[in-house]
Amino acid sequence: MRKKIVAGNWKMNLDLNEGLSLFSEIQEMVQDEVNGEQQVVVCPPYIHLSNLSKLKGKNNKSLFLGAQNAHEEDSGAYTGEVSGSQLSSIGVDYVIIGHSERRAYFGETNEQLAKKIDAVFRNGLLPIYCLGEKKEEREDGSYFKVIETQIIDALFHLDTSDFSKVVLAYEPVWAIGTGLTASPEQAQEVHAYIRKTIAEHYGEDVAELITILYGGSCKPSNAAELFSQKDIDGGLIGGASLNARDFIDIVKVFNP
Ligand code: PGA
Repeated sequence: MRKKIVAGNWKMNLDLNEGLSLFSEIQEMVQDEVNGEQQVVVCPPYIHLSNLSKLKGKNNKSLFLGAQNAHEEDSGAYTGEVSGSQLSSIGVDYVIIGHSERRAYFGETNEQLAKKIDAVFRNGLLPIYCLGEKKEEREDGSYFKVIETQIIDALFHLDTSDFSKVVLAYEPVWAIGTGLTASPEQAQEVHAYIRKTIAEHYGEDVAELITILYGGSCKPSNAAELFSQKDIDGGLIGGASLNARDFIDIVKVFNP
């Protein structure tokens, strides 16, 4: 059975008190309302992580913490950066790697992301690796090629054991924060293509086990239809993850 995951990416939002209060609300709702096997991952800005890790406690079987980025080195003279080993030391579980905003505004390349993925594994964390095409790549039909390159260049150096632990998130750039969502059919088409690309390199069994999330204007009103697609195993949620009720309603799509 593939792991089902709903992850919330708070991006650069919420001050300390706002973050604490949103997380407390989410934690309470997870306890009271989530009774499936799905994992709930909260990815706040760095400043919240240590506090939220203490609030969450260890061994919570449904709720996990993720960072939004990590540097490729473990320590050193990299002013303003945070490393995987630092994140690991405060009880973080996941790290989002290669979000399209990091690619677009901070120039992150597939080659650099390959190193970040290695740093994540070296420090006992799990990557949520983001990929997806821009509007013009969707329109000119080159999106399959773009997606394939994003997978091969950043991930295919991994051995099967590490690769099996990667979570992928397909996020068409034209759907992020725009209110435009990929239709369930458009998303399913790409998810199936991602799984096929993985199968060609690592084999069918590995491809079947990989969790692939959809992201891009996912909300309570469209999550059920998206997540019911055969190759969609959950979501990476931006805007809607800043509201506990909306976020948990998306999580509950998987409640039996
Ligand atoms: P959105 O963001 O849900 O606000 O479109 C998704 C993301 O960037 O991960």
